[in-house]
Amino acid sequence: MGGFFLLKRKRKVKYGFEPNILVFCCNWCSYAGADLAGVSRFQYPPNIRIIRVMCSSRVDPTFILRAFNNGIDGVLIIGCHMGDCHYMKGFEYAQVRMDHLKKLIKYLGIEADRFELCSISASEGRQFSELIKNFTKSIKEFGELRIPKKPGVFEFEYNNKKN
Ligand code: FES
Repeated sequence: MGGFFLLKRKRKVKYGFEPNILVFCCNWCSYAGADLAGVSRFQYPPNIRIIRVMCSSRVDPTFILRAFNNGIDGVLIIGCHMGDCHYMKGFEYAQVRMDHLKKLIKYLGIEADRFELCSISASEGRQFSELIKNFTKSIKEFGELRIPKKPGVFEFEYNNKKN
């Protein structure tokens, strides 16, 4: 109930706000796509920081919660296209996991669209730059992420880390 209430709050959009965006790219397709975008000089906003992982299924949902807790305004996970994952079903597993995470994020009172799972192949440099442009634009519209105080999932994770 609290989460629902928080979703209804009015968003303040700061002018000149530059979001911090974290992008997880799988090693085999999307990282190569990002590389191609760079080599081909397709422009995209400098707001992103890329973390290379072997497969999109390597991204633990707690990584995303932790990122939000540490000042990241938006998270993208980019994997291979469906059926192209180099670990057979990795992307499908990631999809199931991230669907659940989206529900949790919504429950926490954070806009679910601050986080996306997408696919880019090694030959899609232009699509990579377009994806980053569009995602950055939508995060700018959301404004700075403010984590609601309730419920205490973030505290739970923090306490677990301390032990
Ligand atoms: S290797 Fe790219 S999503 Fe699994």
